[in-house]
Amino acid sequence: MREVAIIGSGMTKFGELWQKSMRDIYVEAALKAIDDAKVDHIDGLYVGCMSSGLFVGQEHVGALMADYLGFGNVPAVRVESACASGGFAFRQAFLDVASGMSDIVLVGGVEKMTDGADVTYALATAADQEYEVYYGVTFPGIYAMIANAHMKEFGTTREQLAMVAAKNHKHGSLNPNAQFPGLVSVETVLKSTMVADPLRLLDCSPVSDGAACVILAPLEIARKYTDVPVRVIASGAASDTLALHQRETLTTLKSVKLAAERAYKMANVRPENIQLAEVHDCFTIAEIVVTEDLGFFPKGKGGEAVEKGLTSLEGRIPVNTSGGLKSKGHPVGATGVAQVIEVYEQLQGRAGKRQVRNARIGLTQNMGGSGASSVVHIFSV
Ligand code: COA
Repeated sequence: MREVAIIGSGMTKFGELWQKSMRDIYVEAALKAIDDAKVDHIDGLYVGCMSSGLFVGQEHVGALMADYLGFGNVPAVRVESACASGGFAFRQAFLDVASGMSDIVLVGGVEKMTDGADVTYALATAADQEYEVYYGVTFPGIYAMIANAHMKEFGTTREQLAMVAAKNHKHGSLNPNAQFPGLVSVETVLKSTMVADPLRLLDCSPVSDGAACVILAPLEIARKYTDVPVRVIASGAASDTLALHQRETLTTLKSVKLAAERAYKMANVRPENIQLAEVHDCFTIAEIVVTEDLGFFPKGKGGEAVEKGLTSLEGRIPVNTSGGLKSKGHPVGATGVAQVIEVYEQLQGRAGKRQVRNARIGLTQNMGGSGASSVVHIFSV
């Protein structure tokens, strides 16, 4: 396998982008990435997109985006793995370049969720249709069950969940691309509207539009395009049951653990070597469980870690410096690639007020549904 590096990135602001269509926002992010990398062609294109058919009535997104971008004849394919579509698109692009099949590959993610579709229904299609959706389950409900189990088993407190939201909004307040950059206090989270007990409105990631793209190249030519290529040193992925009731436990996300183990092995690093991470905080409880399953903290101690400030910008391992899904927004197909962009900019020292000092190794973790699919990438300069 060849070594692979990121040589450019671009994204739209996340939010309700009423005045732009899905193809507009994808092309905006892609052109920014192409400009950033200063490439004059691409050999292929991958686009992560969860549910454009339900959100805007458009399938066949790969060819459409290549055409609108002006690269109508390159191989172009959409990758779908629910909310992990972007992360899995990135993995496919990485494998394409690593295998030697392609040199310059554009990988992006896009989702247009606010155009009037039944978003809760569309998102719920990522759960098990026969065993969960049929009975009326929604994702806030699924993660509420995980939160209740975690609180009962480990004593995680309602306040600790709120601290995840407050921290990520603080980070997001430093990110010009964030959908909800406003500061949010723990008290405000605790007083926000109940959605699915114990999760309240401000425990939930919002509904968002947005696109994010990066360009990959083999390391041996990456320096032609950028002074600071960021190497992709591992890609680990795993699956689990869609239905929550079929798992051994609600408080460990097995696919996250397995994807992380595979990535750590490939990169030959340990969790304590990771200096910053972007993780899938679709709900506050998700960040707590995921930081445990990535091995950053012992099982049951994720809540305590947030309370002690270990995951804040100045902490031992800053988590979600971009604001995370919670504050930056969660246009589902775009999220996995936007996470990569945050780590890319951090490792290049371009993260502005969010900069983590001396960061050399970063990790991204993106998951679909309640962790039925997970993908972990590790990066280094
Ligand atoms: N920070 C600050 N304000 C926020 C916010 C946030 N993170 N999220 C929403 N708001 C605000 C909105 O701007 C809105 O304010 P307004 O009334 O002044 O315009 C208000 O809170 C209500 O938001 P709205 O989006 O209208 O709420 P909703 O009831 O339609 O949806 C949720 C709220 C939580 C149900 C919805 O965002 C949701 O389903 N989130 C989860 C998405 C999901 O499951 N993703 C996949 C994960 S696996």
